[in-house]
Amino acid sequence: MPITIIVGAQWGDEGKGRVTDLLAAEADIVARYSGGDNAGHTVTVGSEIFKLHLVPSGIVQPGTVGVMGAGMVINPKKLLAEIDGLAERGLDVSPDRLKLSAAAHLILPSHLALDGASEEALGAGAIGTTRRGIGPAYTDRAARAGVRGGDMLADDFAQRVYQAVEAKNRVLVEIYGREPLDAEGIADEYEGYARRLRPYVADVSREVHQVLRAGGRVLAEGAQGTLLDVSHGTYPFVTSSSPIAGGVLTGLGVGPKEVDRVIGVTKAFQTRVGEGPMPTELTGSVGQALRGTGANLWDEYGTTTGRPRRCGWLDLVLLRYAVRINGLTDLVITKLDVLTGLDPLRVCVAYRYQGQEWDDLPFGPNALAESEPVYAELAGWTKDITGAREEADLPPAARGYLDLIEERAGVPIFFASVGPEREQAVHLAP
Ligand code: IMP
Repeated sequence: MPITIIVGAQWGDEGKGRVTDLLAAEADIVARYSGGDNAGHTVTVGSEIFKLHLVPSGIVQPGTVGVMGAGMVINPKKLLAEIDGLAERGLDVSPDRLKLSAAAHLILPSHLALDGASEEALGAGAIGTTRRGIGPAYTDRAARAGVRGGDMLADDFAQRVYQAVEAKNRVLVEIYGREPLDAEGIADEYEGYARRLRPYVADVSREVHQVLRAGGRVLAEGAQGTLLDVSHGTYPFVTSSSPIAGGVLTGLGVGPKEVDRVIGVTKAFQTRVGEGPMPTELTGSVGQALRGTGANLWDEYGTTTGRPRRCGWLDLVLLRYAVRINGLTDLVITKLDVLTGLDPLRVCVAYRYQGQEWDDLPFGPNALAESEPVYAELAGWTKDITGAREEADLPPAARGYLDLIEERAGVPIFFASVGPEREQAVHLAP
C-alpha cells in the first residue's frame, strides 16, 4: 500500500486535521515530515480536545504508529510535555507507538533566542515568525552545525549541546548585544531530556519502508502550507522547511513511486498569519465576519500563538499554483459554512500585474505584492448548511461555489466541511 500525503494548499491553518482524522483510522503509520512546534493541530475526539504541535495528530487513533521524520526540527522540552499530556489522558505514547528520526534536528534555547533577536532587529521588516526557533534550527542544519535526534544516543551529547550553545552565544552577544545563555545549565537540562527521549530515536525511513513492504498504509501529515514553503512560497515570508508534497520524500526518506495520492486542503476562503503579501486580504467587516470573534476554538486565531489571522476571499490563482507545486490529486474544502450569509461572494480568478491580466502567477509568488486580484462574483446563500451531509442538501449557490473551485483547480473535491464536528462534512461524488 502506498503513501497518502495531506498537504496545506494555502498559508497553513487549512484544517488539515480534519482529513488526517478521517484517514488515520485506516493508516498503519501517521508521519510528520517537516516543521516543528510552529504547527498547531487541534484534534477532537468525543469531548476530548487534543492540541498537538509535534506528535502526529493521527496518534489519537488506536492502531497507528506516529513517526517524526528527518525533515523536522524538534524542541525536546515541548515533545516531552506533549508525550506526558497524552499519556495522562490515557493514550499509549510508548516508544512502540511513537518514533523520532535520528536525523531530525533539535531546537535549542539558543535557536529560540536568535529567532526573537533577529525578528526584533528586522523591525518593520520582520517575518512575523512563531518565535519557536524554527528558522535558526534549519539554518544550523544547512550549515552542518546542528544537534540531531541521534546525537542523544552519544556519550558526549551534553558536550555537543554545550558547544552549539556557546557558538550561538557569540552571535547573541556580539551581533545582537544580548546576554549570553547559560550553556552549561542548558547542556545539563538537555541531558535530562535525552535520557527520556533516547528510546524514541529510530530510523524512520526504515520503519516506513517496512510498513510499506508489508502492505501497510502510510499517511503523511503536512504542517504549515504550500505558500509557506521555503523555496516555492512567498519568500522571505515563509517558514524554513518544505511543507509541500516534495518535502515528504526528503523528510521521511522515501522515493516518489511510493506516493499515490496527494490531498490538498484549502479553506473556502483565504487566511494568513504573520507578514507577507496576501492579495485578497479584507480589512473591513467581511474580513471580520470570516475571522469570527475568537469565542470558538475554530475562529481564525492561531493555535500556536493566538494571533488573529488575516482573512480574505478565496484565491483560485494560488490554489491552482498549489495543485501544480504538489501534484494534488484531490481537494478538501474546509469551513464552507463560514461563508453563509455573505452576499455576494467573491473569488480571485486572475491577477492584474504591470497592466496585464494573468490567470497564473506571473513570476511565482514573487510578484504577489504588486498583483491586484481580479474577482468573479457569485451569489451567496443564507440557508444554514451545518446540517448538510450530501451534495443535494446544499443550496444551489453553495454547490455553484464548489463547482467553480473544482473547475478552476482542475482536480475533484473529496469533501467539504460544514462545521467543526467530525460528521459535519459533505462527501462529494467522485
Ligand atoms: P516560523 O515557521 O516560526 O519561522 O514562521 C515563519 C512564517 O510561517 C510566519 O509567517 C508564521 O506565521 C508562519 N507559520 C509557521 N507555522 C505556521 C502554521 O502552522 N500555521 C500558519 N502559519 C505558520
